[in-house]
Amino acid sequence: MMRSCQADRFTNLFYPDALLVGSRTCYIGNVNNLVLVGFMGSGKTDAGKIAAKRLGMTFVDMDAVIETRTGQSIAQIFESKGEPFFRAQERALVRELAENSGQVIAAGGGIVLDAGNVRDFERTSVVVCCWVDAGVAYERTKHTKHRPLLEADADRRARIETLLRERESLYKAIRLRVDTSAMSVEQQANELIRIYRANS
Ligand code: S3P
Repeated sequence: MMRSCQADRFTNLFYPDALLVGSRTCYIGNVNNLVLVGFMGSGKTDAGKIAAKRLGMTFVDMDAVIETRTGQSIAQIFESKGEPFFRAQERALVRELAENSGQVIAAGGGIVLDAGNVRDFERTSVVVCCWVDAGVAYERTKHTKHRPLLEADADRRARIETLLRERESLYKAIRLRVDTSAMSVEQQANELIRIYRANS
């Protein structure tokens, strides 16, 4: 499938498979990854694992990779090194993963905060936003303890509403979107597979 990305007169230096067509840049060749973006509790990991297995692709959980490489949990990273350090790790990992193929990637919920992350993935991947309503995100995450951004506030429900409102336009800017709010993990995985096949 041909995918267009932002016009960039230097594109050909960095992406030899890219063809400049007028003011647009078209990527020649297949998009070979499925990248799942979305708020905490949007089912990226659970549905992503099922989708990867059925598609015969490798499942990659970005948070898990960062934890393994740093030897610290995400909570410990936020605590000892701060959020900017974590975001830098995410940014570097996106650049690396976007160069590989055959992966279903569950991105951390904050990946959309840096537009470069989405842009890099879109060059080689079908990027799907897994949307979830605030109330459902709360229900799905209320007993978990590993997400530092949700631990800081005693009122987790309010925290989720605020964070989701702040990020809503970034998630909704992603062209391919699945509203997972009323879906089972199984339904979500099936929908992700359908979207990947239709767009790769
Ligand atoms: C974050 C989401 C988390 C993790 C970190 C920050 C966010 O990933 O990357 O706690 O900013 O939304 P999940 O979306 O997989 O929970």
